[in-house]
Amino acid sequence: MLARDSLGAIRPVTQLKRWSATLVANAVSTYALDTASTVSGVLLVASGVFSGTGFQTAVVLLGVSYVLWGYGLSSSLTANWRLLEATGTSTSLLSKLAYDLGRTRRAGTRQLLSAAGYVAFELAKESPYYIGAFGLAFASDLVSGEEALVFLAGANIGAAAYEYGLGWSTRILLQRAEDGGYASFEKEWSPADYLAGYYGAIDADEHHTIAFFTEAARRMPADEPALVFGVGPTLHHVFPLASRASEIHLGDFLRCNLDEIAGWIRKDEGAHDWQPFVSYTLQCEGVADPTHADILDREQLTRAGITRLLEVDIRNDRPLGNVEARYATVLSAYCADSATADLGDWQTYMRRIVGLVRPGGTLLIAALGQTQGYFVGAKAFPSPFLDGTDMEDMLRDYFPEAELTIRLVPVPECAAHGYSSIILAAGHRKAGDSAVADLRGSPLG
Ligand SMILES: C[S@@+](CC[C@H](N)C(=O)[O-])C[C@H]1O[C@@H](n2cnc3c(N)ncnc32)[C@H](O)[C@@H]1O
Repeated sequence: MLARDSLGAIRPVTQLKRWSATLVANAVSTYALDTASTVSGVLLVASGVFSGTGFQTAVVLLGVSYVLWGYGLSSSLTANWRLLEATGTSTSLLSKLAYDLGRTRRAGTRQLLSAAGYVAFELAKESPYYIGAFGLAFASDLVSGEEALVFLAGANIGAAAYEYGLGWSTRILLQRAEDGGYASFEKEWSPADYLAGYYGAIDADEHHTIAFFTEAARRMPADEPALVFGVGPTLHHVFPLASRASEIHLGDFLRCNLDEIAGWIRKDEGAHDWQPFVSYTLQCEGVADPTHADILDREQLTRAGITRLLEVDIRNDRPLGNVEARYATVLSAYCADSATADLGDWQTYMRRIVGLVRPGGTLLIAALGQTQGYFVGAKAFPSPFLDGTDMEDMLRDYFPEAELTIRLVPVPECAAHGYSSIILAAGHRKAGDSAVADLRGSPLG
């Protein structure tokens, strides 16, 4: 677990360190692959299992060994992609080079490029075996063509085992690293602790965030569905959307957060009291002194407007699962940046969130500034040390300059939570002619 005063002090690993780590990993993995392949090839020939079984059998064996190799390769390719995205390093030089060259491209393209680099390098490592085995077979009587094929099949089986093992161990290492520094959402997130720690009163960060969202919501497309992505157990960012959206879908990774919201919709006893936040939203909208009736009206409008609670996962290419939708408005506050400490992951997650906004639609974002994490009770959750330029670099490709607002707001009052600034962003996408999925009238659930 991170110490409280260490938050913010940990810097991302430099490119130089990433390349050095990749060079070392590349050398070690090449050596390990060579050893595994050679030993396995020699053992298969020496075992005599396939001696005298004929040329055709050797060809079939070689074919089977390629299927195994492909299986092992798919395991290491998946792990290599996760390694690149999580750490910017790879066990393959060519894969890292392809990944870095494609840095500004979409995640799918980067994945393809890094996979192509990886496979090309692995194939290049295979060539000495072919030259050696067939060279020997042609040049001397010591090795027959059949034995050369059996040797290659054995080498492939060794390579398959190596690739599978590499993929498996990389995934385990990444999982440990992910679990090691920060608390886990799946195992350690407590909606009650979060609400008690952050939403007993309106803190400085939320004064700014709600005011910003309320202002930006004036320009969101009216009478169309809106999505709040990574809503947590909270409603305070939903109130500014309620008077403009035709309906609102709320998505979060954790069922327990959505259950908390369902309890508020049902008016369960013990549901969190959001009335101070409703009142503040109305003030931001220009109601000087909201009455109790005004507050109840907005609560009622919000309850009626929420038509779906969705389980989502920003780590997936399709963060909404099977729901194929693009929204006129997407609001995501302290989600993509609160789900990872890695800048590359954050960029990937943000691209996915932007992808949920239909052409002509509005995106509203809030993120923590310049911190490696935030506290919920005594537990530290991650953040990728963002500053305003990270947000600008991220969003400027998607939004015309005149339609993008980014603010870095100091909130020293929040230092005890682990951060002292926030980044607020609003963008309006260019209109296009893409079809918009019809989201109206879908059931709550
Ligand atoms: C700091 S909370 C923010 C909640 C709320 N938006 C707010 O402003 O208070 C971070 C949220 O991100 C969600 N989250 C974590 N991992 C996620 C993932 N892989 N996909 C989607 N949401 C995730 C958590 O469940 C949590 O609700």
